[in-house]
Amino acid sequence: MKRNEAENKISDGSLKKEMRVRPIKHGTVIDHITAGQALNVLKILGISGTTTAVVSVAMNVPSGVLEKKDIVKIEDRELKETEVDRISLIAPDATINIIRDFEVIDKHRVELPLQLEGVMKCDNPNCISNTVEPVISKFTVNKKPVELRCIYCDHVISEGIAEHLI
Ligand SMILES: Nc1ncnc2c1ncn2[C@@H]1O[C@H](COP(=O)(O)OP(=O)(O)OP(=O)(O)O)[C@@H](O)[C@H]1O
Ligand SMILES: [Mg+2]
Ligand SMILES: [Zn+2]
Repeated sequence: MKRNEAENKISDGSLKKEMRVRPIKHGTVIDHITAGQALNVLKILGISGTTTAVVSVAMNVPSGVLEKKDIVKIEDRELKETEVDRISLIAPDATINIIRDFEVIDKHRVELPLQLEGVMKCDNPNCISNTVEPVISKFTVNKKPVELRCIYCDHVISEGIAEHLI
């Protein structure tokens, strides 16, 4: 047994899970974020360098299923559905864990919505959603691979999704 494992051994002989940062009492853990997307997740949540929130970010953490993943932990915050929808676009395998009294009390995977309204900007400068008309952008969503099709002009966005978020 490695030294780290020995230190984590608890009285019943099982191994306590190693945690990279101090556990949080209440808040949200966004786990299994596609490696490289943690900063985009923060952006979606409106968290910048001037935030007063208690936030920890882990990048490129080794993980069984995904090989590498990012993790974002935020104290005293629960996410809105619109925030989770945006996260699903850039991190389709993410899980949202709600923490209360240090325990995970709820866990669910993000789910790509079937349609996006007012979430993404169409690339086509002539698209009606980009004119002075008060037309809200609308995309239909293909899940695998993630592809978004503008319902007005058929333009497809498949790369740089974070940069298209409104
Ligand atoms: N109190 C806490 N403070 C901070 N992070 C926590 C806390 N409790 C759990 N986590 C983190 O939340 C995530 C989910 O916790 P859980 O105990 O369900 O892990 P898991 O069994 O590996 O889950 P999964 O099957 O989703 O990978 C992990 O990344 C874990 O480190
Ligand atoms: Mg896990
Ligand atoms: Zn368009």
